[in-house]
Amino acid sequence: MDYKKEIERLKAALPVTIVAHYYQRDEVFEAADIIGDSLELARKCQNDPNEWIVFCGVGFMGQSVKIIAPEKRVLMPKVACCAMAKMIDGSDFDKSVAYMIEHEISKENILPITYINSDASVKAKVGEMGGMVCTSANAYKIINKGLESGKKILFVPDRCLGQNFAIQMGLRSCVIGEGKCDPKENDIICFNGFCSVHQLFTPEDVEFYRKKYPGIKIAVHPECDPKVTALADFVGSTSQLIKYVNELDIDQKVAVGTEYNLVNRMRKANTYVLSSTKPECPTMNETTLEDLYRTLKSIEDGNPINEIFVDEHTSKYAKLALTRMLEVQ
Ligand code: 13P
Ligand code: SF4
Repeated sequence: MDYKKEIERLKAALPVTIVAHYYQRDEVFEAADIIGDSLELARKCQNDPNEWIVFCGVGFMGQSVKIIAPEKRVLMPKVACCAMAKMIDGSDFDKSVAYMIEHEISKENILPITYINSDASVKAKVGEMGGMVCTSANAYKIINKGLESGKKILFVPDRCLGQNFAIQMGLRSCVIGEGKCDPKENDIICFNGFCSVHQLFTPEDVEFYRKKYPGIKIAVHPECDPKVTALADFVGSTSQLIKYVNELDIDQKVAVGTEYNLVNRMRKANTYVLSSTKPECPTMNETTLEDLYRTLKSIEDGNPINEIFVDEHTSKYAKLALTRMLEVQ
């Protein structure tokens, strides 16, 4: 079957918007009506006029759209879970709060911030405590906003993002379970989660490229280890990395430390993947053109598959945390 052609036919026939994150396979990415990083997609889906959203990405992204816009029918061709989001559930979050309380920080003095790469149940716990969601594109602003409260920040689940922004903002941070982590002596207390894809980039990779191509620029995502970001010329979210590379002189070599599909799609000349291995996100790569076709067809057949639902209680509090983020400009 010519899936591409069938997808075009179904798109024209149905009140549906196909959404894809930059890390999706090329053929899926090219079929999308809306593309973007996690922040852009959350904003664009909220304002989309169609009843149906078919979201090609990882589970927390589809869930976030359903929470922000509950009137929409959200389907995911593959309900694949981001490996980092899987590292924390509601009870891990509670244990992190308990850890801070044991170290003499009262619950009222904790402001939780969760990276959007987390399950709705974690976002709900954060929302219930007055906290916010952030993405890599707005973490600086959200942490700054959080600091206005004068409270200690509990940052989950990505320790690298928490540590990298603490360094950038001149704040003190520590990771629960790693060495001495005294919440009284730190501003940002991080949960010990990480992205297995962005952990692939090492200081040795940076050294390799600097030696091979003197003058090369190194640009990395803030999910990379602080030992790597410390050596980079630029640290930015997906959309910020794209902008940075696009604005470089075409003769300027650049090695980029983020997901393979995205880097491979950036300007072709003088752009390198900052790794000797292929840093593909396995869950983002699960979605195929055939999956996308089947999902659209299921709408046409009146028997939708892989629909995203979030229970009322979770949705109510997770929405608070997401809305607080979206309100920060
Ligand atoms: P962005 O917020 O930059 O889209 O990143 C999402 C993600 O999963 C990065 O690994
Ligand atoms: Fe999750 Fe990492 Fe994949 Fe991003 S690249 S979706 S953080 S596993």
